[in-house]
Amino acid sequence: MDLRKDGRVYEPAEDSWLLCATLERAATRFPELHGTVLELGTGSGIVALTLAALGGAVTATDLNPHAIALARRNARAAGHHIELSQGDLFEPVGDRRFDAIVCNPPYLPPGGKYDDRWLALAVEGGPTGAEFTQRLLTGAPHHLRPGGGVWLLLSSLMGELPEGWERERFDEQNFDGEILRVERLSLSVSG
Ligand SMILES: C[S@@+](CC[C@H](N)C(=O)[O-])C[C@H]1O[C@@H](n2cnc3c(N)ncnc32)[C@H](O)[C@@H]1O
Repeated sequence: MDLRKDGRVYEPAEDSWLLCATLERAATRFPELHGTVLELGTGSGIVALTLAALGGAVTATDLNPHAIALARRNARAAGHHIELSQGDLFEPVGDRRFDAIVCNPPYLPPGGKYDDRWLALAVEGGPTGAEFTQRLLTGAPHHLRPGGGVWLLLSSLMGELPEGWERERFDEQNFDGEILRVERLSLSVSG
């Protein structure tokens, strides 16, 4: 996919490609991925565009306004319609519910040196790296249709996630000792 770039927006990397490839492979088994799909933290729009190409009705958000502008340009260039809104996590979608929620979250603990605060926001997920994802999972039950799933890119460098979710593992890759993997989380019967 030929994407435009912006130095203030996360450029697709191994984590983005792993998530996209997994979603493409899983879409036959999980019709939710071509239903109504919410992507949180869209960055360049690469994941949202992958979902739109699968046939999903895609809504995508990002706190970074430069990301929203770039994703809009990339969607237009690719000829896909994606509903794009700037804001924090679920705030831009009100109380709407989706068949699936997808996110490649910021997951590193602090410590990187970034020239740009938007790039720090894209990679640092809180004190253990997992706080952004914990917030996402706290909000997700209010935005997921019954039977739907939360598709997450996770890293071995991040802290623990909350209990109460059924977790199915998909693709996993080792990048210089860091294990990246994709999981689908769904609400357990007791959760
Ligand atoms: C690792 S990047 C992923 C970008 C893109 N989805 C990809 O896979 O290449 C994480 C994205 O989350 C966004 N983000 C960080 N905190 C956010 C928040 N509180 N609400 C919404 N988006 C946020 C960042 O701006 C960044 O674009």
